[in-house]
Amino acid sequence: MSEQATIKTSAAAEPLLKVRELEKFFTLPGKGLLQRNGATVYAVNGISLDVHAGRTLGVVGESGCGKSTAGRTIMRLLEPTGGKIEFDGRDITRVKGESLRMLRRQMQMVFQDPKGSLNSRQTIGTILSAPFRIQKVTPPGGTRLAIQDLMDRVGLNPEHYNRYPHEFSGGQQQRIGVARAIALSPKLIVCDEPVSALDASIQAQVVNLLKDIQDETGVAYVFIAHDLAVVRHIADEVAVMYLGQIMERGPMDVVFNRPMHPYTHALLSAVPILDPAARSRERIVLSRDLPSPLAPPSGCVFRTRCPIAQDICAVEAPPVTEPEPGHLIACHFPSTTPPSTSALPMRVIHTSTQKTN
Ligand SMILES: Nc1ncnc2c1ncn2[C@@H]1O[C@H](COP(=O)(O)OP(=O)(O)OP(=O)(O)O)[C@@H](O)[C@H]1O
Ligand SMILES: [Mg+2]
Repeated sequence: MSEQATIKTSAAAEPLLKVRELEKFFTLPGKGLLQRNGATVYAVNGISLDVHAGRTLGVVGESGCGKSTAGRTIMRLLEPTGGKIEFDGRDITRVKGESLRMLRRQMQMVFQDPKGSLNSRQTIGTILSAPFRIQKVTPPGGTRLAIQDLMDRVGLNPEHYNRYPHEFSGGQQQRIGVARAIALSPKLIVCDEPVSALDASIQAQVVNLLKDIQDETGVAYVFIAHDLAVVRHIADEVAVMYLGQIMERGPMDVVFNRPMHPYTHALLSAVPILDPAARSRERIVLSRDLPSPLAPPSGCVFRTRCPIAQDICAVEAPPVTEPEPGHLIACHFPSTTPPSTSALPMRVIHTSTQKTN
């Protein structure tokens, strides 16, 4: 059995990362006399997920649904409002100070904007020496050698050690971001839309680099993307987020081939099908914009844009069903049949409190 296969069979073991009912709310500063208390943004509103060692969880959903906030809260760059985060068997929900610094060796992040995440006044050598310096780690052979080895591993010329970020292309800058994240051999990397800012032709190269690094090192990823097409080729499992909550999650192939949540059906209907033998998909266009996370709809948060919403959806939060082991759907009417926009009238519910007729 190959090393990769050994790593990939660890799914039955205790997860490396266990997130339960995680919440992150932001309180906006109140303005004037009428808003003294400020309003609450329910950015992440009770999400639960597992990530196993050496595996990749894709997190998808449209802009503003809370993906970055979830990633940053899991990384403990943000203080959770509620819920629990367990990493490597340890409760890290409230770790602080020195314990949090030590945790950074094990958990790293790659950001969407490679340029913005690199200090433009520092050379690549200085940028890549930071993890060693901050963590007070002296690699065998010295930091310079370790950095040049890192550059080589991510496909950069080690001789470019003294260059500045602007001397690299976007794809190369993201390789620097990846090199920085893997410097101390973490167990988990949260990749927040690591390829969204790159040209389509470069995206696959960076995704392949991340895959190769995973095969070599057994690192686990939380891979955040807008698009199911991007995570399709890297994620073992996927969680579909909508307005701070998870609508559906499960093994990538199951969710991709047998989605049951109307929101997942809608996201998938936008993914181009390259295989002509695959079932045809009718494009489901969601009406209206994402509701404000300041006032999420009652009952099911997706109901105001759901083509199959019924009265109960406005009143009760949907139960979570598990039709196959590990495949979880939060919907009152889960179905493998995509809601047909031509056969079903679009039911648009106009306010967060109004019920459907
Ligand atoms: N520091 C903050 N203070 C107040 N609201 C915030 C803060 N950070 C994020 N939000 C709000 O939380 C919600 C979720 O934002 P988040 O950036 O996590 O979404 P996202 O899914 O990553 O979106 P995108 O795909 O555009 O990156 C948004 O409504 C956003 O405006
Ligand atoms: Mg984001």
